Amino acid sequence: MKGTRFGLRPTTEADTQLMREFTRDHWGADIVVAHGVVYHPHKLQGFVAEVGRGKWLGLATYHIENASCELVTLNSIQEGEGIGTALVQAVREAGSDSRCSRLWCVTTNDNFPALAFYQKRGFRKVAVYPGAVERARILKPSIPLWGIESVPIRDEIELELVIHRT
Ligand SMILES: CC(C)(COP(=O)(O)OP(=O)(O)OC[C@H]1O[C@@H](n2cnc3c(N)ncnc32)[C@H](O)[C@@H]1OP(=O)(O)O)[C@@H](O)C(=O)NCCC(=O)NCCS
Repeated sequence: MKGTRFGLRPTTEADTQLMREFTRDHWGADIVVAHGVVYHPHKLQGFVAEVGRGKWLGLATYHIENASCELVTLNSIQEGEGIGTALVQAVREAGSDSRCSRLWCVTTNDNFPALAFYQKRGFRKVAVYPGAVERARILKPSIPLWGIESVPIRDEIELELVIHRT
């Protein structure tokens, strides 16, 4: 259904269980691994896109450290309606409010749609970590071997958006 009117709000402690289930559904476990770090997204700050109160259409989680805001997970389950863009914008503003100078994230070499999505929104590729996903599988064996269009998932790509505060 196109043109869904969704709302965005910060997650709260009451969302912990739903965040955990959402992460399991979309990332195959309740952890994600990026740059060698194991994250529990349900324990992070986040924003949820929902219809009414309770039907989740998207979730972003993030982690702020050293004036950097890392977008840890980003998922939209109703694509092409602005949900992903709105979630990124909300996390960007949260980073800016916390005086971060950059918003960054990691994706995998097979994820062409996400690479295009981020770059169209001003992110730049700033690093490639060959073999990083092979190492991440030691921490999270459920990471698939093949991804989008059956491309072997091997490397992590770091993307960054510089936050200019006004
Ligand atoms: C990447 C992802 C978050 C994008 O979410 P999304 O909700 O489809 O994002 P948007 O709708 O904001 O943008 C997607 C496209 O829809 C278009 N769009 C935005 N609002 C729209 C609207 N109201 N009506 C029609 N189209 C719209 C956008 O222009 C955009 O196209 P573009 O990238 O060519 O500019 C989503 O595809 C996803 O969850 N992927 C799987 C998980 C993943 O890979 N996460 C990121 C890597 S960790």
